Amino acid sequence: MSILITGVAGFLGSHLGQLFTERGRPFTGTYNRKKPALPAEQLDLFDREEVLKKLEQLRPSAILHLAAAASPNWCELNPKESQVINVDAAITLAAYARNAGIPFLFTSTDLVFDGQNAPYEEDWAPSPICTYGMQKAAAEQGVLLAYPEATIVRLPLMYGWGNNFLKEWVEKLKGGNPLSAFVDEYRTPVYVQDAALGLALLLDLGATGFYHLGGPEPVSRFDMALHIARAFGVDERLVQPGKQAEVAMPAPRPTDVSLSSERAFALGYQPRKIGEAMGELARQYH
Ligand SMILES: NC(=O)c1ccc[n+]([C@@H]2O[C@H](COP(=O)([O-])OP(=O)(O)OC[C@H]3O[C@@H](n4cnc5c(N)ncnc54)[C@H](OP(=O)(O)O)[C@@H]3O)[C@@H](O)[C@H]2O)c1
Repeated sequence: MSILITGVAGFLGSHLGQLFTERGRPFTGTYNRKKPALPAEQLDLFDREEVLKKLEQLRPSAILHLAAAASPNWCELNPKESQVINVDAAITLAAYARNAGIPFLFTSTDLVFDGQNAPYEEDWAPSPICTYGMQKAAAEQGVLLAYPEATIVRLPLMYGWGNNFLKEWVEKLKGGNPLSAFVDEYRTPVYVQDAALGLALLLDLGATGFYHLGGPEPVSRFDMALHIARAFGVDERLVQPGKQAEVAMPAPRPTDVSLSSERAFALGYQPRKIGEAMGELARQYH
């Protein structure tokens, strides 16, 4: 029996798979379209019967459910399809885990909050303003109904090498191009490797209930771009202030969804500060 990681080919999943590999910890991942260079089997979470069949076959010792339609804009434009993966599949997996008596960790988001009352604590009621946030909030409730001892892990904006904005921003700045970054969108971003370490910690400690794995400091997208410019040795004047309020996007974005992660900090979760993490990422860059 090994741990099941859904979405192992994704941004967080690939880092978690790497961490488990380094620790010699047996796991099996599932992917949908993109086969990763990690132990993984194809499984479309749209197909409930296939999901249940695969679970019976794998009989995992724990489930870390990372797979999701994680683009807020895509969810806004495709509410029915995203509901199946973001809500229904999460509940199916949670119900299986409860019957099997195994731990279940569900990855939710800071976008379950409306951005008006940051920093948000673990027990605060969700107040989503976009379809993706509404689906994740519905999944949190559905998962807990199916399995009251489940672990709900709310993640902030994550950064690192992989499928996210970092590479694009670095290449733009390194090429001497101006980069416009929002001054009016605050999060508590976390280095993806620290989010993976946090998930492993919660699993190892058998933590249940709500946890936030936010970064140690609230920053705007503009602040993040300045950190990147400094770490990668680029002229900071290339970073220019932009306003999300002036950019039309399908999904509305809350202004400040900074998370308070005190509950996880008390368990030993220690995410790196952005300056330190960016320094490490810059040293890995070639
Ligand atoms: N990235 C962030 O900043 C962030 C912030 C807050 C919360 N989160 C949450 O953290 C978790 C991991 O996020 P991430 O950034 O790693 O997402 P990601 O890179 O988009 O990965 C998500 C994975 O889900 C898989 N998936 C999507 N639809 C599927 C389906 N129908 N069947 C099976 N697998 C399917 C995708 O596989 P294929 O590519 O093969 O389709 C993909 O590898 C998600 O729950 C997300 O909501 C992320």
